[in-house]
Amino acid sequence: MGIVTPFYIAGRPAASDDVVEIRHPYDGRPVGSTANATPEQVEEAVAAAAAVAPVAAALPASTRAAALDHVSARLKERAEEIAKLITAENGKPLKWSRAEVGRAVSTFRWAAEEARRFSGAVQRLDTDPIATGRLALVKRVPRGPVLGISPFNFPLNLVAHKVAPALAVGAPIVLKPAPATPLSALVLGEILAETDLPEGMWSIVPIPNDRAAALVADPRLPVVSFTGSGPVGWQIRDAVPRKHVTLELGGNAAVVVCEDWDDLDWAASRIATFSNYQAGQSCIAVQRVYVHERHYDTLADKLVAAVEGQRTGDPSDEATDVGPLISAAAAERVEAWVAEAVSAGAKLLTGGTREGASYAPTVLAAAPAEAKVVTEEVFGPVLVLERIPSDEAGFAAVNDSQYGLQAGVFTRRLDRAFEAHRVLDVGGVIVGDVPSYRADQMPYGGAKASGVGREGLASAMADYTEERVMVLTGLQL
Ligand code: SIN
Repeated sequence: MGIVTPFYIAGRPAASDDVVEIRHPYDGRPVGSTANATPEQVEEAVAAAAAVAPVAAALPASTRAAALDHVSARLKERAEEIAKLITAENGKPLKWSRAEVGRAVSTFRWAAEEARRFSGAVQRLDTDPIATGRLALVKRVPRGPVLGISPFNFPLNLVAHKVAPALAVGAPIVLKPAPATPLSALVLGEILAETDLPEGMWSIVPIPNDRAAALVADPRLPVVSFTGSGPVGWQIRDAVPRKHVTLELGGNAAVVVCEDWDDLDWAASRIATFSNYQAGQSCIAVQRVYVHERHYDTLADKLVAAVEGQRTGDPSDEATDVGPLISAAAAERVEAWVAEAVSAGAKLLTGGTREGASYAPTVLAAAPAEAKVVTEEVFGPVLVLERIPSDEAGFAAVNDSQYGLQAGVFTRRLDRAFEAHRVLDVGGVIVGDVPSYRADQMPYGGAKASGVGREGLASAMADYTEERVMVLTGLQL
């Protein structure tokens, strides 16, 4: 075995005997290793986070912003190396790994910018005679050290979305990366270790999922920010009702292709790309496609052609569009869900085959409303097509879901766009494109079973902090 990548306890590299080997999802070859932190090391990380909290909260904005800028710059310098690592441990095609590193560069840059802007507010209180001469200063203070729990599907940028806003507001963070993909988070640790942030302000602790409950329950970590599966997320919230818990959970993202939309080539190409990017392993990958009957037959043909045009194969190959899922077990689950839908009457228009962890880009039509490929989050390269008699029926179909993360609406009509924004019960509506669009600075999160709270730098910074008011008296305003 080669070098065992260290993890980070209170900002310092650490090791243990509990070594874990990370394997490439595409062919199972070893791509690196790290180790699980021992319970004593985890305790050290949490104790250090609690101890440094007052110091971290008092750090000047210039110090926080400089550290975040440094991380952004170093990610950019090391972009190609990190992209290859993401592909190796996660299996996503190199082009999507490169895109992820680019986004992480921007996530840290935005955090630096927001740290400089994070100023609080002044509120005048002399609106009643009794408060003449009074003024309120409202600042936001960290709620306390954050426990970040991140998923495998964006092993760098979804770690960045936990770490960057915490550092930006001066909150210590203990980050637990996904067991399947810790190495990208640990490169981030290597870069964070180059900064002069105080000891204890950040730790990156790989541990198995079954040891996370103790961290969730630890009162020294009053904020929990979790991205991952619904059952685990809601369990966390139920386990610690007095903590501040943010949940970024799943979705079965939908698009509506409205009656007025005429550029069917664009719609087909965007839908095909974003139902299959990262083999569908994004919470906002396109899963349900509602097409106005005026366009249905034409779009169905174009869509099948576009999906069949997706190149599958080795994710390290520059030309590959769709690589493996994270594991053979994940691909087997997708295979079972598609089989269930087909045996219940869905029509398989293309795909439907599996080889190890790789599942072919798949299009289904007329799937029964209760099939798992419609009601649950597939997290695989599968989309379900449905004909709709009107745009309104499409919006109703989008809402007929336990989830509500983002939705895409192909329309050029301003009134339709506003209607979609008004009626769709989701965290974000993307007009003229697929629901998979996300800019890292914008608020991102879901309604209903898709979670609570919002990420995106300014939103997460608000989420990690609470208002504290100081009232000044006896002033001449
Ligand atoms: C997610 O899968 O929730 C994250 C999607 C993204 O950041 O693009």
